[in-house]
Amino acid sequence: MQRLPDTPIPTFLVETQASANSHLADEITALQKERSGRIALGLATGSSPIGLYAELVRRFEEDWIDLSFVQTFNLDEYRGLPAGHPASYRAFMSEHLFRKINLGPKNTHLPPTEAEDLDEACAAWEEAIRAAGGVDWQLLGVGRNGHVGFNEPGSPFDSRTRRVKLAESTREANARFFDSPDEVPTEAVTMGIGTILDAKRLRVLAFGETKAEILGRVLRGEDDPSIPLNALRRHPDAALYIDEAAASRLG
Ligand code: GLP
Repeated sequence: MQRLPDTPIPTFLVETQASANSHLADEITALQKERSGRIALGLATGSSPIGLYAELVRRFEEDWIDLSFVQTFNLDEYRGLPAGHPASYRAFMSEHLFRKINLGPKNTHLPPTEAEDLDEACAAWEEAIRAAGGVDWQLLGVGRNGHVGFNEPGSPFDSRTRRVKLAESTREANARFFDSPDEVPTEAVTMGIGTILDAKRLRVLAFGETKAEILGRVLRGEDDPSIPLNALRRHPDAALYIDEAAASRLG
């Protein structure tokens, strides 16, 4: 793993996705041991985190780590999908992590999406994060347009958990998880950028050439406040882990 020089957010070029996954799993393992398991993890969905979740499951099965006291807070969830829909982020998390490490539903939190008073439910969700002592370690992916969670370009850096509309490019990128593109919801609830910046550590995974352009704009460009990923320049402990294909526009 090689630290790239002169990037506005610390960035590590990894030879394989597996090496990034094992590094991040090491961080979580160390944190869990230090705190006897009582940690709050911020989690993400999409293709990027799947390998890390598999690595955590392996460590759990081999008794390296005990995740039974972990509290998890996911970044985002679609609005308007029937409960249990296979493309919901709850279903994704259950398939890749929660049910494999025996995490009970009380330990796992996804943003509220269907409450009658959604603003109030979002405020309660933020309160639940605070009650857990804040997020100790937050995983992030990045959208092709630079979104983090479902904070699309133009989202204020001090935004909190709220209902958002999805960009068409995001709906197209995520259509692969649905039977047809029309099924992709138009709305979601996401942790705000301000909520994300409150986490003590931020770790971003970006793999593949579809991320190359946005990484070039963020890591070699001006501090453009319309690109959500640029918010991480303001965090004291953020780092990106990217592969060669994702790094191909860094010059
Ligand atoms: C979705 C999620 C984001 C995620 C992004 C990237 O839009 N809401 O949180 O970062 O996908 O996904 P992938 O890792 O599949 O490229």
